[in-house]
Amino acid sequence: MDVLHLQDYPIFIGPCEEALSRFLESRRDAAVFVLVDENSESCCLPRLSGVRQLAQAVVLRIQSGETFKNLDTCSGIWRQLLDAGAGRRGLLINLGGGVIGDMGGFCASTYKRGMDFVQIPTTLLSQVDASIGGKLGIDFHEVKNSIGVFANPRAVFIDPGFLDTLSFREVRSGYAEIIKHALIADSGMWNALKTKRDLETLPWIDLIPPSLQIKKRIVEADPFEKGLRKALNFGHTIGHAIEAVSLQSAAPLLHGEAIAAGMICEAWLSFRAGYLDQQELETIAAYLIQVYQPQLLHDSNYMAYLQLMRNDKKNEADEINFTFIGPPGTAHVNQMAGEAEIVASFAYLNGRLGDQGLG
Ligand SMILES: NC(=O)c1ccc[n+]([C@@H]2O[C@H](COP(=O)([O-])OP(=O)(O)OC[C@H]3O[C@@H](n4cnc5c(N)ncnc54)[C@H](O)[C@@H]3O)[C@@H](O)[C@H]2O)c1
Ligand SMILES: [Zn+2]
Repeated sequence: MDVLHLQDYPIFIGPCEEALSRFLESRRDAAVFVLVDENSESCCLPRLSGVRQLAQAVVLRIQSGETFKNLDTCSGIWRQLLDAGAGRRGLLINLGGGVIGDMGGFCASTYKRGMDFVQIPTTLLSQVDASIGGKLGIDFHEVKNSIGVFANPRAVFIDPGFLDTLSFREVRSGYAEIIKHALIADSGMWNALKTKRDLETLPWIDLIPPSLQIKKRIVEADPFEKGLRKALNFGHTIGHAIEAVSLQSAAPLLHGEAIAAGMICEAWLSFRAGYLDQQELETIAAYLIQVYQPQLLHDSNYMAYLQLMRNDKKNEADEINFTFIGPPGTAHVNQMAGEAEIVASFAYLNGRLGDQGLG
């Protein structure tokens, strides 16, 4: 079991039953609640059956999926906490992916002005990214993560064993954040990743800790996203808009799938701004297209993308704020791009897809 420390909370990496048992033993909470969705209840909760302190825990249930990461679901969680008589001295364990972690953490931090919570991320995406760093929240009026708070969990338990039941598509979605971490902060990791063709054989257990370390380092340097932490938003300004529009469609994208498309567009903007050379751009785009096979962006959606970006929390004044990358392993925060250039970046992605006959 490896233990990292971020600010004032431990991150345990390895099989979690025993570590969780010891952690709960040390706390003596008035009551313990476990938030699950139908998938984390069936696939993940049974893996905690050896944790004696959970025998009396109250299980709170929500429906899975990004479309439920909203105020109505929060209302349901707060209702369930109230009905169960939860006080401020209770503990909420968020067992699930990034949606459970972001929303459960938000509900805990606001319930009766804040109850303690623990993150047990069960998707690759939440294990390398969402579960640490203290950003919690929900989507509101189609704008991703537009309501939320910064608050830290009491502990995070990262157990790669949970990934056994995750679908290939979900694993690949999480891999996008590993690629992002490499592109913004670790050229060696990017050089290793860009040759990987077969995701099924990637050793996640070895890839999770270094990826987490990158996020930890960046969050420690800038916990409240005043500057440097914005590097983690690479791919997300455009990616969030693509994700939000897709959530209204019959074929919603997963977070990492949208971010992969966003990274291609934003790598092109980085190239246009002179930070990235053309060959690096082509390598990044080719790899992401090969792994994610993104869909064409329809021009009928361009206005919606731009509108969502204007509403995105990352904007300052009227301009749309981006994180660009330089040579892999470097990032430039607080970069601006105009709407014409952003639209041109959509056209670049579409052109690349056309070249490869994947559209
Ligand atoms: N707070 C942050 O810093 C941060 C960072 C990155 C992403 N996020 C957020 O994270 C969310 C995406 O997280 P996600 O990709 O984990 O999605 P998710 O939470 O929707 O989980 C994906 C799916 O996998 C299921 N699932 C979870 N664990 C499973 C398991 N072990 N076996 C089988 N099925 C399982 C879930 O029920 C769900 O259907 C987005 O809302 C995104 O905005 C937050
Ligand atoms: Zn993300």
